[in-house]
Amino acid sequence: MTIVSATAETKTIKLTVYRFNPETDAEPRYETYEAEWLPSLTAIMALTYINKHSRANIAFRRGCREAGCGACTISVNGVPALACRALAQDGDVLEPLKGYPVIRDLVIDRTQQTAEMFRKIKYGREGKPIGFIPAKPEAIGVSRALTICADCHGCNSICPPWLESPARFVGPMYLANIIRAMFNPLEEYDRVAQAVDMGLYNCTLCRACTTSCPKDIEITESMILARQRAVEEDVLPEEVREIRRNILETDSLYGVCGKERASWATDLGIPKSGKTLFFASCEYSATEGGRAVLARAAELLQKAGSSLSYLYEEEQCCGAPLYFYGFQKEFREKAAKVQKLLKETGVEEIITPSPACAYTFRELYPKYAGDSNIQVRTVLEVILEKIRSKAISLKAMGNRKVVFHDPAFLSRFLGMVEEPREILASIPGISLVEPKYYWGANTMGDGGLGASEEVNSKIAQARLRQLAEGGAETIVTASAADSARLKQAAQALGREDMEIVDLIELVARALEV
Ligand code: FES
Repeated sequence: MTIVSATAETKTIKLTVYRFNPETDAEPRYETYEAEWLPSLTAIMALTYINKHSRANIAFRRGCREAGCGACTISVNGVPALACRALAQDGDVLEPLKGYPVIRDLVIDRTQQTAEMFRKIKYGREGKPIGFIPAKPEAIGVSRALTICADCHGCNSICPPWLESPARFVGPMYLANIIRAMFNPLEEYDRVAQAVDMGLYNCTLCRACTTSCPKDIEITESMILARQRAVEEDVLPEEVREIRRNILETDSLYGVCGKERASWATDLGIPKSGKTLFFASCEYSATEGGRAVLARAAELLQKAGSSLSYLYEEEQCCGAPLYFYGFQKEFREKAAKVQKLLKETGVEEIITPSPACAYTFRELYPKYAGDSNIQVRTVLEVILEKIRSKAISLKAMGNRKVVFHDPAFLSRFLGMVEEPREILASIPGISLVEPKYYWGANTMGDGGLGASEEVNSKIAQARLRQLAEGGAETIVTASAADSARLKQAAQALGREDMEIVDLIELVARALEV
């Protein structure tokens, strides 16, 4: 944190606050105020100080002031936060939660929408009894965890499908309420059908809600458990059935045959067996653009000294979509089959460009298919290691202003936020601009693990607008699916002037591969 002025007695910080009174103002505006800083200064304390000393009369809510009631939730630098708990930092931008009508300044109207939603969801004992459902222990855990929700509405305000397509996705807060009821053995309504009807499969699993929840509730995990119930009860949208069929029949999420998926490697002479397996992924191998990145990735890794093998047409889908869409039994079987193949071919290490596959091999396989002692790394981790050890050095590519779009599996599942930025910083001539606020304020999942194309396209367009705001000429990302969606969004918005490129491709250019 930067302290803007400091004396022996006082230190002050500057905070920018959204100001808007719909009764008197034509447009919202932002005003900057100073507050005396203390290590324990919360956003609420800072706002109280500003109102007292600057006569600013900023409207904000407060209730328990001990992180219990959720009344004080605002957006701090684009991320929902309890104002009674968030420590005020110099340069913070305080705004009302996105997606709700503003009553004044930081105060939003939650009541109208919430009342309407809860009427729609229906509570009470008027439903038709559907009998006793034995709850699984893990489901009970999630259901109980959901009961500690403070109803702060923060998860809704950062949820891409809810913000961009509320008619197709009810929002994580309301859906969590339905899921809580779903796992209650005494529940009388058919909550599984209701959850699917209200958009359970339009959640992109980007984890924006989970990572910003002030109560640390695993909201995304509860969505996956609810999807497992939807699978058990066979209440599935057609798109989800198609994805399952694609994986089981063609080993590709997108239904692309093995020959086409492996076509990128035809002239590269990569051996079929070896200790270090290059796992191309059905995500990257599905499109021409993705396959071009695969070729560059393999070439640059080889140039950097890695001895790769590749399974060509025998590469199977890791099964990630089966897990995330709720087909847990089939995911287990798939994971066991892939694990067996890897062991038979003597693989000791997997290197993959796909963050989703890396997460699946690293985190889900040990849990569902047993430990295999196979090391799993993303291509970006290998590149960074080579840069740090000076095994490769990247050449200047001319001055270029770029913005990085964090794929959810890279940032929120694998926790890799700084790594891609460090790689970008090591390419001479590149200057990085960040999207207006927080790095992950509005991602779209890895290409959108939601089932609805319409919702995913709207999210991609919103994200493209955010990324374009800072004036970057190039959007860099690290997911073939996200690249494809951003390119579609650029076309739809008439922004073909913006270059959209995978970070691997950019590194390959800087290495002159
Ligand atoms: S005032 Fe109750 S949670 Fe902040």
